[in-house]
Amino acid sequence: MLTRIPKAEIRRGMFVEAVECSAAAFGKRRFLLDSRNDYVAILESPAEFVVINTTIGSEVIHHGGKPPLTRAEKRAEAAARLTRSVRALKAELINIVVGGNLDMEQLTQVVEDIAQADDETSSLYFDITRFRKKDEALFQHSLAVGILMGKLGTALELDTETVAQLVLAGMLHDVGKLTLSKNILQKQGPLTAVERKLLRSHPQRGHYLLKRHAVIPGEVLDVCLHHHEALDGSGYPSGKSGPDIGQLVRIATVCDAFDKLTTARPGKGDRAVADATSWMFEREHLYDRKLVLRLGALIDD
Ligand SMILES: [Fe+2]
Repeated sequence: MLTRIPKAEIRRGMFVEAVECSAAAFGKRRFLLDSRNDYVAILESPAEFVVINTTIGSEVIHHGGKPPLTRAEKRAEAAARLTRSVRALKAELINIVVGGNLDMEQLTQVVEDIAQADDETSSLYFDITRFRKKDEALFQHSLAVGILMGKLGTALELDTETVAQLVLAGMLHDVGKLTLSKNILQKQGPLTAVERKLLRSHPQRGHYLLKRHAVIPGEVLDVCLHHHEALDGSGYPSGKSGPDIGQLVRIATVCDAFDKLTTARPGKGDRAVADATSWMFEREHLYDRKLVLRLGALIDD
């Protein structure tokens, strides 16, 4: 019997009659779904539905229930979603820089994917972004910060609209860096004074790019401009301090620093979650201690 199911419901052992998309990878192929590659390819495809043959397939959905995903399948699904999210984010960030139209629908989809991810899925997301490739590092950092900010906002019981703004702000906070040359962004040795000044201009550059788009909420603009401020006023670009730094910006500074500290980077080593949080906790003149503690409690090492 042929059954049409949403692609998110595919499981190993099902016999696939058709993947409803024009992707050449599937063509008119009919196959037993037993390889991870096929599973990921279907999830990554633009198809929304898959037709399965429950007469041939050994694993069938019975009584409306479905077999729970194995850990490997959950991981594969999270990896596929992450690849799609990074791709969508990359396209939109580049669009913002080159002055194209911002496709909020694309970004909203990513925000929803992240905001609705259950705890296990979002820690998988976080795990996967730690194995980032150099050329994708900025996009994956942006996504990771968006995920972290969303998780922290949820843990703080902020309303869903604010959590969505946090995810979006995390994804867009470093867009100004895309206007700087790779020589500066990927330089291994110390920066010259001029290079350092340029690098430190990325919050204003990002803010300038984002404010041209009326759909970007003010909170997101604020995070972009101030995510390098510090509680003691030693940050940039405004040197704001203490109570002048709002909660969303504080969340951003903590999540941004945390992701940088826990990501393997040449010359900087790989800090464990506990090391990162205690390093930040000891610097209460820079970071909001309460937020550091909440974030540390959220992430398993
Ligand atoms: Fe930044």
